[in-house]
Amino acid sequence: MDKKLLKAMNEQINKEMFSAYLYLGMAVYLEKKTLLGCSKWMQLQAKEEMEHAMKIFHYLLERGCEVELDAIAKPSVDYSSVKDVFQKTLKHEQFVTASINKLYETAVAANDNAAGIFLQWFVAEQVEEESHASEILGQLDYIKDDSPAMLMLDKALGART
Ligand SMILES: [Fe+2]
Ligand SMILES: [Fe+2]
Repeated sequence: MDKKLLKAMNEQINKEMFSAYLYLGMAVYLEKKTLLGCSKWMQLQAKEEMEHAMKIFHYLLERGCEVELDAIAKPSVDYSSVKDVFQKTLKHEQFVTASINKLYETAVAANDNAAGIFLQWFVAEQVEEESHASEILGQLDYIKDDSPAMLMLDKALGART
């Protein structure tokens, strides 16, 4: 595999693992706020991010490439509100989308068709990831400081499987 592409792939493993950590940190905050449904949603989100990291991990091994596991940065567990949590979720997903798009472009520039096809799944997945965070943010705009409405959203998010 092209050197630059391999480096970016390894960096993406780290970004996906950090995403998992970030969302676990958010789950800690939400759990403290007794928003157990939101916390469950975040924990499942973290699990998905670890699966994303593992997808790339296995792909690199399958291609016989060097896997480099860098240190994962410490995530925050301090947030000012539920809205703050989901605003930061959306912002982070937008950051990951930019990173995935760049990774895809690197694969194309390296004429690595197989890696390009592999990364297309991630390109599509990011559309969903951003859309989910946006939807929840939109609903939080309706809720504002309405506690019963917040508990209804918490219940809905807790139904995620
Ligand atoms: Fe991801
Ligand atoms: Fe994500």
